Amino acid sequence: MKKIAVIGAGTMGNGIAHVFAQAGFPVSLIDVSEQQLQKAVQTISKNLDRQVAKGTLDAATKETALGHITTHSSLAVGVQDAELVVEAATENTELKLKIFQQLDEHAPQGCILASNTSSISITKIAAVTNRPEAVIGMHFMNPVPVMKLVEIINGYATSKEVTDTIVELSKQLGKVPCVVNDYPGFVANRILMPMINEAIYTLFEGVAGVAEIDTVMKLGMAHPMGPLQLADFIGLDVCLSILQVLHDGFGNPKYAPCPLLVNMVMAKKLGAKTGEGFYTYTPGSKELVVSKGFKK
Ligand code: CAA
Repeated sequence: MKKIAVIGAGTMGNGIAHVFAQAGFPVSLIDVSEQQLQKAVQTISKNLDRQVAKGTLDAATKETALGHITTHSSLAVGVQDAELVVEAATENTELKLKIFQQLDEHAPQGCILASNTSSISITKIAAVTNRPEAVIGMHFMNPVPVMKLVEIINGYATSKEVTDTIVELSKQLGKVPCVVNDYPGFVANRILMPMINEAIYTLFEGVAGVAEIDTVMKLGMAHPMGPLQLADFIGLDVCLSILQVLHDGFGNPKYAPCPLLVNMVMAKKLGAKTGEGFYTYTPGSKELVVSKGFKK
């Protein structure tokens, strides 16, 4: 692979650009907002600094990695010469379908088109292109530089050659690829989201408080974050939308989102990104403070 293009300079996009650049690939980071692109490069630089401070990366490699990244506000220009595009735009079906139509038009022939979607059907995305065999899911986990997994999702028409290429590439990033098939929620979110939803129901029904639920799962099951903290970290709007995909896709009431989750999303208490969810977040502080409404 000579050049990778990443669409979207948000949390996932900057993490994906970071790991490709660190592994030595020229990366073209694309976003409609120049401001978002500048912020993303600063975030990547800061996250590379953490690795330098820990001694897992030397300063020269950090500079080389940063030098591999170019930014573009034009998709058509940014994907020129790309052999792989990884789309990490906002999780919105209409938006993603539009982006894939544009990618199909502007990306070179033979270029693989991957989506970092957490729940939108790869088969549906592939169907708006003229190269469904070259469309695949490449689902990274947040924080991308830290989490080892890449969930690789085969759409209905994805070719074996494309899957093999993406598996190999994920290994070159130092990640562990897992190949799964395209059904609602794939594997990661089909299992994770019902657990998070059940934790919210446990709180909703008054079985236990926020801190107790998270402590049971952290200390009892060795999860690095409890399910309510993890929901805040992912974003409650994202959790709700994935649960809706599972509910619609399987037609099974077991995936129905907890009314408390629905209410919190309507109230715009979306977790860490809005400063409040199950916990309250203060910039610069790592202390876990249960939100006022959930204090006993
Ligand atoms: N870039 C580089 N390094 C980073 C980083 C980043 N963005 N974020 C954290 N780190 C590093 C830190 O430097 C630190 O390294 P050392 O342990 O070597 O010193 C390490 O990661 C841990 O970070 P912290 O000490 O700051 O914090 P922590 O110990 O509380 O760990 C965490 C933070 C890694 C996020 C940990 O809490 C964790 O693993 N949480 C669960 C994350 C998870 O489940 N992610 C998946 C979410 S689901 C998803 O992404 C997909 C979806 O579809 C919804």
